[in-house]
Amino acid sequence: MDHLLVRAASGERTERPPVWMMRQAGRHIPEYREIRDEYSFLEAIKTPEVAEEITLLPWEYYRPDGLVMFSDILTVLEPLGLSYHIESGVGPVVENPIEGPEDTDRTFDDVREELDYVGALLRRLNDSVGDETAIIGFAGGPFTLASYAVAGQPSRTHLPLRKLRARHPEAFRTLLQSFAEVVREYLQFQVDNGADVVQLFDTYAGELTTEDYREFLQPLHQEILADLDVPTIVFVRRMNGRLDLLEESGADAVSLDWTVEMDAAREELGDTPVQGNLDPSYLYSDPEFVREKTEAIIEAAGPEGHILNLGHGVHKDTPVESVEAFVETAKEWEW
Ligand code: CP3
Repeated sequence: MDHLLVRAASGERTERPPVWMMRQAGRHIPEYREIRDEYSFLEAIKTPEVAEEITLLPWEYYRPDGLVMFSDILTVLEPLGLSYHIESGVGPVVENPIEGPEDTDRTFDDVREELDYVGALLRRLNDSVGDETAIIGFAGGPFTLASYAVAGQPSRTHLPLRKLRARHPEAFRTLLQSFAEVVREYLQFQVDNGADVVQLFDTYAGELTTEDYREFLQPLHQEILADLDVPTIVFVRRMNGRLDLLEESGADAVSLDWTVEMDAAREELGDTPVQGNLDPSYLYSDPEFVREKTEAIIEAAGPEGHILNLGHGVHKDTPVESVEAFVETAKEWEW
């Protein structure tokens, strides 16, 4: 039988909501920090045994219904000829960012070859826990990837990329298109190597005007998500309403950040499956509060097509007891 997560993402009624968390494998787990003392971030994601060990840490702690492969959205920069690393205290840094409008038409190397370490990781995960839990693959969306590629580092306002839109709209379009092509191949590659579900993280795309979103980005999301044989989830943070834009991406399920009210989302989205959406900062509270707020979300979402998750990733010093309470609330639920 299909995994609970696959069933919910396909819109089925499930006996309880499946549960996983964005960034569940990261820095809130003590063993992750120990492994990172030994390996740089890039060494960890490029060494399948190490990436597997990290992916499995939340499995040992919480037994979630899905394990998100330990990797990063930035892996696709390399096939496009962009080098990056994670700088402590800064975040992702691109060493040779896009130089200008004439530098946006990027050819790319064979994704399967360049990112073979991701395929190897997915195969390992399938062998070790594939019968017990869903394996979740993911990729960044064109806007979010382009923001790093143009700014060369995290940008709170994403102004370098938005300036490109304003001054050189055709170069902006070309750059997003290059990313869309790589991402499409990359997700297909993940499915071929055993991902049961894939999520597209276009985290920062809420920065676009609605008109630009529709013109430049929506067709690319549709292209990326069409024709994948597994359920797909789309996530964009801070959409300020505008759930119709996410629904029109063609994803099977829409991941909601914590600023969206679950019942209002259900009303607006009809039968479209949803994922979310506990405020990740609530996990700094006590387990009782977490249970109460989580139950309210499950109740509001109802029994059909709901994947319990946070509204964004787990923060780094989140207490394990609260995460346990979050996961257990879903596991003990009975519709
Ligand atoms: O459970 C998991 O950890 C899954 C793997 C995962 C990571 N990043 C691991 C990671 C996923 C799904 C991502 C997605 C990602 N990466 C996004 C989209 C979603 C989101 O959360 O916004 C974005 C924008 C990135 C880019 C990126 N990579 C950021 C912003 C950071 C954090 C930088 C920092 O110093 O805070 C990274 C590095 C990164 N990716 C870490 C992890 C666990 C931290 C590495 C470390 O310091 O040990």
